Amino acid sequence: MDKNNTCKMIETLKEYAEFIRPYKDAINLVRIRLEALDADYGHLHSHNPIHQIIHRVKSLDSIVKKLAKRGYEADLESAREYLTDIAGIRVITYYQQDVYEVARALKSCLDIVKESDYIKNPKPSGYRSYHMIVVVPIHYLKSIEYYPVEVQIRTLTMDCWANIEHQLHYKTLKNDFSGKISKKFQEYSEELNAISLKMEAIYSEQNRQLSEFKNETPL
Ligand code: GTP
Ligand code: MG
Repeated sequence: MDKNNTCKMIETLKEYAEFIRPYKDAINLVRIRLEALDADYGHLHSHNPIHQIIHRVKSLDSIVKKLAKRGYEADLESAREYLTDIAGIRVITYYQQDVYEVARALKSCLDIVKESDYIKNPKPSGYRSYHMIVVVPIHYLKSIEYYPVEVQIRTLTMDCWANIEHQLHYKTLKNDFSGKISKKFQEYSEELNAISLKMEAIYSEQNRQLSEFKNETPL
């Protein structure tokens, strides 16, 4: 690689690092809110709804590919304007009711600009999850700027399906869900959902008995 190209590459990497910094700050803010909500819920109800929080910022490569796919200029200005999933957080809960508790709690403390309930309405692939785009204010010395964070909330079972389907199927799929493998994944999504709800019923029953014992209204 000649010296000119090396300088250009270093410049691009520096620009990306600077561009991504507030998105990382936004992720940290949402993550801290989620951890506090989880601890508070645990304190009140003796159950922590969140099993795990995973986060990532979109790589430069993925940003460029997504912009190109959508027909936008492949530069960071377009990324700032058009992409809402540069910052992403995935919240993995134990039960379906936990998903809605987490969503409700987040709504009470952050501004939401988009919500998609793929649990009530699963995607044709069989994908289940609750998606929100939250907008987070980042305070600078002289200004406040707002950054979107995509939050995906789903149960351990939904996450298990999504990870395996993502690896084996999602990336090769072009909105055609009629193939043999697609049908299998739709079927497995239903089966996993049914098993998950049966386990959740045990949790609800234990909760009911505990509340009865304590003479409280169940969750
Ligand atoms: P993207 O351009 O993929 O971000 O889609 P979108 O902006 O229309 O948002 P959507 O809510 O449809 O999906 C966003 C993200 O959800 C994807 O990037 C995946 O992480 C996940 N997702 C959506 N559909 C599926 C699916 O069928 N299978 C799997 N495994 N993940 C999915
Ligand atoms: Mg995405």
